[in-house]
Amino acid sequence: MKLKNKVAVVTGGANGIGRALCRRFAAEGARGVVVADLDTKRAEQIASEIGGIAVTTDVSVEADIVNLVERTVATYGAIDLLCSNAGIGTPGGADEPNEIWQRIGEVNLMAHVYAARAVLPGMLGRGEGYLLHTASAAGLLTQIGSAPYSVTKHAVVAFAEWLAITHGDAGIKVSCLCPQGVNTDLLRQSEGGPGEFLRAGALEPEDVADAVVKGLEKESFLILPHPEVKEYIRRKATDYDRWLRGMRRLQASLNSPSS
Ligand SMILES: NC(=O)c1ccc[n+]([C@@H]2O[C@H](COP(=O)([O-])OP(=O)(O)OC[C@H]3O[C@@H](n4cnc5c(N)ncnc54)[C@H](O)[C@@H]3O)[C@@H](O)[C@H]2O)c1
Repeated sequence: MKLKNKVAVVTGGANGIGRALCRRFAAEGARGVVVADLDTKRAEQIASEIGGIAVTTDVSVEADIVNLVERTVATYGAIDLLCSNAGIGTPGGADEPNEIWQRIGEVNLMAHVYAARAVLPGMLGRGEGYLLHTASAAGLLTQIGSAPYSVTKHAVVAFAEWLAITHGDAGIKVSCLCPQGVNTDLLRQSEGGPGEFLRAGALEPEDVADAVVKGLEKESFLILPHPEVKEYIRRKATDYDRWLRGMRRLQASLNSPSS
C-alpha cells in the first residue's frame, strides 16, 4: 500500500515512533493523518504541523478507541490504515504487582484488540484496509529484565498473525513492526533498566518510519528496521535451547560489574 491519498490513524502519534510515522505519512501524501494520543497538547502540535487532526485517546479505554474511529470516519469518510502503536514499558518479573501487569496488558495488548474490533467491520465491508501493529523485537525474542513487556509484545505478534491468517483473504492487510532499540523517550527512560543495552544500536524514529513505509509498500507482515533481528529469529527457531543459553549469557554479561 502506498500512503498517497490514504487516511491513516496513528496511536501514540504525539511522540517517538508514532510522531515520526505521522510526519512521514503526511510527507508521502496521505489525505488524512490522525494523531491519537493521551498527550493532547503534543498531539495538537503535530496535527497542526502536518495538517491532520488530533484526537485525545487513551488506547486502554475501549470507548476512546470507538470515539477515535468515529471522529476519523466523520472527518475523512474511512480509515485506510490504522497503526496501533502506543505502548509502554516496565521492568520486572512475575512478582510485579497485578496492577502493573494489568496496565501494561491494557495498553500493549488490549488496545490492539479494541482497535481491530472498531475498524474491522468497516474495512471488511469495503473489502480493504490495513492494520499496522507496533510490537517489538521483544515480541519475537524476549526483553531481558522485563517479563510484562516480553509477554505483551509476544501477544501482539500472535494477535497480528491471527488477524492476517483470518482476514487476509477478505482484503485485510496486516503488518507487525518489530524494532530493537529506537531513540525515543521510552528507550531514554530505561536508563539503568533492562532496555539500556539496546541504546548502543538504536535507530532514530525517522529510520523506523522509513522501514514502515517500505514495508507497507511491499505489504510484508514482519517489518524489521534492524535487519539482524531476522537472523536472531532464525537462530531461535533452529535451536531453541541453544538460543536460550545465549540469552542467559547475554543477561549475565549485562549484570556483570564490568559491563
Ligand atoms: N523505543 C524503542 O526502543 C522501541 C523498540 C521496540 C518497540 N517499541 C514500541 O514502539 C511503540 C512506540 O514507542 P516509542 O518508543 O515511540 O515511545 P514514546 O514513549 O516515545 O511514545 C509513546 C507515545 O504513546 C503515548 N501513549 C502512552 N500511553 C498511551 C495510552 N494509554 N493511550 C494513548 N497514547 C499513549 C505517549 O503519550 C507517547 O506520545 C511502543 O509500542 C513501544 O513498545 C519501542
